Amino acid sequence: MGQREQGTQHGSKAERTVGIIGCGSMGERHARAFIATGRLEPCLRVTHLCDRDSARAHRVADLFTQAGLPRPSVTVRAEDLFADGGLDSVDVVLPTSAHHGVCVQALRAGKHVLVEKPLALDVEQAASMVGAAAANDRVLSVAENYRRVGANRALRALLDRSDGVVSMTTDIVCSPLHDARHNAADWYADPDTAGSYLAHEMGAHEMDLVRFLLGEVESVHCVPRFSAHEPSRDPRRATGLFATLTCASGAVAQMSLRSSDHEPPGGSRRIVLEDGGHVLSQAWEVWDGWHQGRGGARTTTDEALTALAAHTGEVGNGRGSSDPALRHEPVRPLFARDDVARSGVASAVHEFAHAVAGVREPEIDGVDGMRTLALCESLILSARSSRTSWSGSRSATVAGMSTRLDRS
Ligand SMILES: NC(=O)c1ccc[n+]([C@@H]2O[C@H](COP(=O)([O-])OP(=O)(O)OC[C@H]3O[C@@H](n4cnc5c(N)ncnc54)[C@H](O)[C@@H]3O)[C@@H](O)[C@H]2O)c1
Repeated sequence: MGQREQGTQHGSKAERTVGIIGCGSMGERHARAFIATGRLEPCLRVTHLCDRDSARAHRVADLFTQAGLPRPSVTVRAEDLFADGGLDSVDVVLPTSAHHGVCVQALRAGKHVLVEKPLALDVEQAASMVGAAAANDRVLSVAENYRRVGANRALRALLDRSDGVVSMTTDIVCSPLHDARHNAADWYADPDTAGSYLAHEMGAHEMDLVRFLLGEVESVHCVPRFSAHEPSRDPRRATGLFATLTCASGAVAQMSLRSSDHEPPGGSRRIVLEDGGHVLSQAWEVWDGWHQGRGGARTTTDEALTALAAHTGEVGNGRGSSDPALRHEPVRPLFARDDVARSGVASAVHEFAHAVAGVREPEIDGVDGMRTLALCESLILSARSSRTSWSGSRSATVAGMSTRLDRS
């Protein structure tokens, strides 16, 4: 990565800047994450906020004022940010169908880009975003937050040090989109704007976690379930997607993604290890069950992972450690457990600041985001065709696409 020298001089350090495009529910979380990480080095100062609903952007601007920070300027037009030569980067937190167009425009205008998951609606859009980043030598990073939660990073270190994983089972239950408990914007119910709610919106988190914890996926087989009131039989509108994924490592992941009127929303996960140990969770983003080690000793997962997180944090740079798993820098928790900025979103924006500063490549770049998205698409393709997807020509197409783009 070339030295990124766009920051303006502020005091003794170069100050790099970011504008948030989209100030809805996640945009506000991103703003809080930039505020929380603003005292770290490197960091990005939020100078611009954009939302076509200016009241939302002003509400988010208030957060900066309340934190004693300079108030970002507010606009309803993303083009105003692209035209500002002093702005280094943008954080795109828009409905998914807008990711492709806005990100490509930003990259062509010379801005580094952080974008919410899923990267885009489909692999073709994703490939054109990756191409724009390469052609303009800009960072394209995906703000996936689950893998960046400290417990998931610590779990990855634990799996790296185990004899291998037999299986991972994931059961995610969302409330239906028409349900007021859901609290999601209306666009989530429209496949042309969100992709499939289960496969793209929820599935992007799950596919990224499977890849992060178990490694690359070789095949996907998915069976859909529809409510009696859904005549279309379009898997993007299914109320259940039930998938089996086989990984190159030999591990098998079973995934059930459902929306249900009758069950409380939530998630549960279980990983079975070759040595008979297992890790359980009763939560969407973290691991809060228990871990049974090789010798049969049983600790809560939280205790085990906290200890491990502290350990990997300490030796995360690898100096002095002979254990390759402990030298694996990417799984180092970015923040201590009691740090206000320890959420996955804060880790994502902090990591983006490192990439903009030229310190290190983003962990989830455009090619990586495209691989996850291809698996989300594979759920739908397999559900539609009743055949195993991803292992065949589609896998080759995406692999070929990313190899070509890697080389360009
Ligand atoms: N990582 C996570 O856990 C997580 C959770 C929820 C959503 N998301 C993702 O975050 C993104 C945003 O979701 P959200 O829930 O914040 O949506 P939202 O509807 O709450 O917010 C989107 C905002 O974008 C604005 N907007 C739409 N089009 C615009 C345009 N062309 N120019 C300027 N402003 C525009 C809207 O007015 C709205 O304020 C989506 O990609 C979604 O998939 C991620």
